[in-house]
Amino acid sequence: MPEPVALTTPQTICPEQLVRFADKPGWYHSIELAPGVVTRGAYDHTPLLHHYRFPDTLEGWSVLDVGASEGFFAFEFETRGASDVLAVDTDRFDGTPALSLSVTHAHKYVEKYRRRAATNRPFEQLYQTLGVPCGHHTLAAATLRRSQVRFERRSVYDLDQLDHKYDLVFCGDLFTHLKNPITAAEQLAATTGRLCIVALANALPAASDAPQAQEKQCEYVGDCSGGAFFHFAPECLRRLLLASGFHTVNIVSRFDLPDRARGLTNPHAVLHCIPHSNAPTP
Ligand SMILES: C[S@@+](CC[C@H](N)C(=O)[O-])C[C@H]1O[C@@H](n2cnc3c(N)ncnc32)[C@H](O)[C@@H]1O
Repeated sequence: MPEPVALTTPQTICPEQLVRFADKPGWYHSIELAPGVVTRGAYDHTPLLHHYRFPDTLEGWSVLDVGASEGFFAFEFETRGASDVLAVDTDRFDGTPALSLSVTHAHKYVEKYRRRAATNRPFEQLYQTLGVPCGHHTLAAATLRRSQVRFERRSVYDLDQLDHKYDLVFCGDLFTHLKNPITAAEQLAATTGRLCIVALANALPAASDAPQAQEKQCEYVGDCSGGAFFHFAPECLRRLLLASGFHTVNIVSRFDLPDRARGLTNPHAVLHCIPHSNAPTP
């Protein structure tokens, strides 16, 4: 059993309560809340981190995590030494949907987010002890980890309102959920100082992976999903990012991310994008 967690307030959280909190349904990321206590997230990125090809050390880097969700990657950037990490997401963690939805499917997401919020009711007292709004997974995790990561509710479409560029901009698994991926790519390019790393979920297969199938560059799925709109082939997203303000875009890896909630794997690709302002001089 882990040690009791002392907070900056005079209170402590007992280990049994912390383990129950980490094990509750509704977590998206697998985050270490305290030594040995990891949330039971739908996804566990830790064993797959090498596919993202993050710099080993981020000492002296400022980092912006766009669509950060519960903050697994933002915490990882902090662990790697980033001096300033800002994580942004549209999620209010109050039971209202965080995604832009297609009108015909909105009801599914209203119910999904309501169910997630309900998993937090038995932990109201814990959230109160932590001093964060009930249900706010991200702030709860940050408080327990004594993290210095800053969180803001902000859309990818509003990044140009930030007052400076970030050395590293990370945008994980967001593009498939966007109604306006080109505007988002332009905003990412405008905010990137040195390197932007984009992870693509639901990556379409290359013809070499499925020789019988016709290679698709992009597929519209908003009529069946309602919260996801486009599945891209990595090469299609590469061209979109290049045309949206990046100097160089390389696909650096492809891998399958297990989805523990649904028992499936989700095909991924990772793209590294260099902005014009950081292009090598000829
Ligand atoms: C699929 S999750 C990805 C989480 C994390 N980046 C990762 O790679 O595991 C997408 C996240 O993007 C957020 N999101 C959706 N639309 C957004 C927008 N317009 N701007 C910023 N975040 C958004 C969602 O609330 C959700 O937390």
